[in-house]
Amino acid sequence: MSFVIKEKFMQTYIKLNDGNSIPQFGLGVFMVPEGPETVNAVKEALNMGIRHIDTAHAYQNERSVGTAVKQSSVDRSEIWITTKLWPSEYGEGKTATAIDKMLSRLGTDYIDLLLLHQQFGDYLGAWKDMEKAVKEGKVRSIGISNFESDRLEEICEAADIKPSVLQVESHPYWQQTELKERVAKYSTVIESWYPLGHGDKGLIEESLFTELAAKYHKSNVQIILRWHIQEGNIIFPKTTNSEHMKANFDIFDFELSEGEMNEIRGLDHRKRFYNVPLAEQEKNLGSWAPAD
Ligand SMILES: NC(=O)c1ccc[n+]([C@@H]2O[C@H](COP(=O)([O-])OP(=O)(O)OC[C@H]3O[C@@H](n4cnc5c(N)ncnc54)[C@H](OP(=O)(O)O)[C@@H]3O)[C@@H](O)[C@H]2O)c1
Repeated sequence: MSFVIKEKFMQTYIKLNDGNSIPQFGLGVFMVPEGPETVNAVKEALNMGIRHIDTAHAYQNERSVGTAVKQSSVDRSEIWITTKLWPSEYGEGKTATAIDKMLSRLGTDYIDLLLLHQQFGDYLGAWKDMEKAVKEGKVRSIGISNFESDRLEEICEAADIKPSVLQVESHPYWQQTELKERVAKYSTVIESWYPLGHGDKGLIEESLFTELAAKYHKSNVQIILRWHIQEGNIIFPKTTNSEHMKANFDIFDFELSEGEMNEIRGLDHRKRFYNVPLAEQEKNLGSWAPAD
């Protein structure tokens, strides 16, 4: 994994298995309503130098992400937009149409990173259309999310273009060590959703983070996010609070020692905050489809 520090803004980029460089830090907009809230949060992020936005068709706010990108003074080429297809859009032919609709909702000519949001439905058919979209220049990188069963190996083995990222729940209480080993074979990088445990107080107020925060004159949240960065995880903590957003991005001027990294690695209690068995997820989520 290679890190490049951009001179313009202090932040790190990760080179993916397809050669594209993704900003390691971004803004997630899960549960941020379509309209001014998403537009303002994305514009604010871009104004402060954040160059990566993580959305999804299922979040129903792609149009607002696109509006913010257009209204910002930042060149489109500097911004990394990730979005995700829902299982209702999976299938050869069907996924190609869904990608065109996404481009139109986002108001952009290309998507930087397109993910399969869930491991249900005709994901193999969808992947073929995603590969075609890369060849057509509509999408730059493709990846998967929430593939943790043996469907992970199934899609990786079937793929001509190997997934560049695997986006899954990961934070100090659930570090995904085994999953990292499984995807290393494909040079796939982990993107961490719930990097702050979805804001869980127990995680954020862990005494080790309080100690380290005092040592580095940072907050507990900044210690957690810095740990992710040094672990090589791609992160996009969600916030619509300006002070939180500024603080979350202000983690590129200090470094945890290897001993401290190891202490945090020792906190892996194998505790997930989203802990729904696969069959139940498939039953609950599989019957839902986001509106166009
Ligand atoms: N692929 C998937 O299935 C999947 C699933 C879940 C999430 N995701 C992605 O991952 C992103 C992050 O996940 P998430 O939003 O659920 O959880 P998260 O980023 O771990 O936590 C967000 C929570 O932390 C709070 N927070 C953020 N910065 C803070 C700070 N500096 N101090 C105190 N509290 C702070 C936020 O509140 P405030 O807004 O008040 O700051 C919010 O309540 C999502 O937005 C989405 O892009 C993907």
